[in-house]
Amino acid sequence: MWVEYFLLVIAYFLGSIPTGYVVGRIVGIDIRQHGSGSTGATNVWRCVGKPAGITVFAVDFLKGFVAVFLMQSASQLQTWLRPFFSSFFTLNYSVPENWMQWFAIGAALLALLGHSRSIWIGFSGGKSVATGLGVLFAINWIVAATAFGLWLATMAIWRTVSLSSILAAIATPILMLIVRADLAYLVLTAIGGGFVVWRHRSNIERLLQGTEPSIFASSTVNS
Ligand code: G3P
Repeated sequence: MWVEYFLLVIAYFLGSIPTGYVVGRIVGIDIRQHGSGSTGATNVWRCVGKPAGITVFAVDFLKGFVAVFLMQSASQLQTWLRPFFSSFFTLNYSVPENWMQWFAIGAALLALLGHSRSIWIGFSGGKSVATGLGVLFAINWIVAATAFGLWLATMAIWRTVSLSSILAAIATPILMLIVRADLAYLVLTAIGGGFVVWRHRSNIERLLQGTEPSIFASSTVNS
């Protein structure tokens, strides 16, 4: 029914909440003019500090998780909302059960897009790593936990956030294949993972040049 389409819009707007930008403004800076120029948790940690970075990570993670969770709860929401909305209009169209996975991946991808291309800050944003992890935890916690474990392990070895994020994004569709997840989730992680890697193209250039800063070190690079 209509609630699924409404939740797709909500997913984009949830993703669009510019957490890192707001935190930057609270301390008097435009985070987009500092460090890597990203509004993500890594750049906030780097430019504002550890508590701010952790806060941005938590909120950005929740944006992705909630966007997918709401879609997964669409039929329940519809039941609750029907009495309110039925006083304005009546729609009897209902979404076939086997479409629901595709609505869930639609919500997931729109949350990722919103985070990277936020309507509130001129379609700029972050690189969708924390929001992507939230999305993944809502869809398949085993794959999410394994991808996060891989991120931690590669961080311990190379101590470079962007490299770990890129490797985890590439690993995610492979993990979905290994656990024989449904096609919809394989498609989600292939597109979402590809998007995250694409958002790291300036990091990839710096990694190839050997100039990417390790862990959360201060950086003067932009974008
Ligand atoms: O989470 C984004 C991270 O992988 C890279 O961020 O600011 O170093 O480009 P940044």
